[in-house]
Amino acid sequence: MSPEILRYETKTELYLNLIHRLSAEIEALQAAPRSPVLALPTGNTMVPFYELVTQHAKQLKVSTWHCFQLDEYYPLDPKFEEKSFRTYLNHHFYSKVKTPPALRESLNGETSDPGVECANYEKKISDAGGIDIAILGIGTNGHIAFNEPGSPFDSKTRLIELHPETLASNFKNGAPIPKALTVGIGTLLQAKKIWVLALSNSKAKAVKRAIHEPMNVDIPASALQSHSNVTWFLDSEAASLL
Ligand code: GLP
Repeated sequence: MSPEILRYETKTELYLNLIHRLSAEIEALQAAPRSPVLALPTGNTMVPFYELVTQHAKQLKVSTWHCFQLDEYYPLDPKFEEKSFRTYLNHHFYSKVKTPPALRESLNGETSDPGVECANYEKKISDAGGIDIAILGIGTNGHIAFNEPGSPFDSKTRLIELHPETLASNFKNGAPIPKALTVGIGTLLQAKKIWVLALSNSKAKAVKRAIHEPMNVDIPASALQSHSNVTWFLDSEAASLL
C-alpha cells in the first residue's frame, strides 16, 4: 500500500505542518466518546516537535490525550533515571504544559518481570480502544520504536536486545543499557494512523529502504508498507534517496 510522503524544504516547515495536521486530527477525534490515544516517541528528532506541542498545548487539547510511550531502556537502574525515556517525555513535554495529559502510560524499565510488564501494556493499549495515531521516528538501521532488525512483523510489546548501531548512537557518553522494552511492530500496525518523521542525511538510506525495498525483517520500518494509513514527514535530506 502506498504511503503518503510529505517532503519539506525546511525543518521548520515540517514541524509546523505536523502540528497543524495533528491539531486537525485531535479536533476530529474529540467527537469520539474517549480520549485521543497517541503513541509517543523520543529521540533528538522529536525535540522540536515537543517544543511546538507545548507552545500549542491549548489548541492541541493535550490535557485530553491518552499517551503511550513507545519504548524504554531495560534494565533501568534508578541511578540512570536521567537516561530514561520517561524522563525525556517529562522533561520535553509533560512538565512543560500547565495541564498535562491526564492519562500517561510508560513501560517500567525497573520492573523485575518484563514479560508481565509488556503483557499489561498491551492490555492497556487495547483497553484504551487501540492507538489512534502512532508517531514514530526511525533509527539509522531502520528500527521503529526499539524494534531492531530481525523483529517479527507480528511482534507484540516485549523485551529486546539493542543493536550495536543503536547502542553506539544512543550512548555516546557513559555505559550503554543493553536492552529495551518496546511496543511491537504488530502492535504498531494495529494503530489507525502511523506518522513517521525523518530528518537529515543520516536517515536517508533507512527511509529509502523502508519505502522501496520489499518488506523484510532486516529493515523493520518496511513493515509499514502493509499498513493502509502511513504518512512520512521528511525533510529534503531524508528524502534525498527516494
Ligand atoms: C531511538 C528510539 C526511537 C527513535 C530513534 C531515532 O533510539 N527508540 O523511537 O525514533 O531511535 O532517534 P533520533 O531521533 O535521536 O535519531
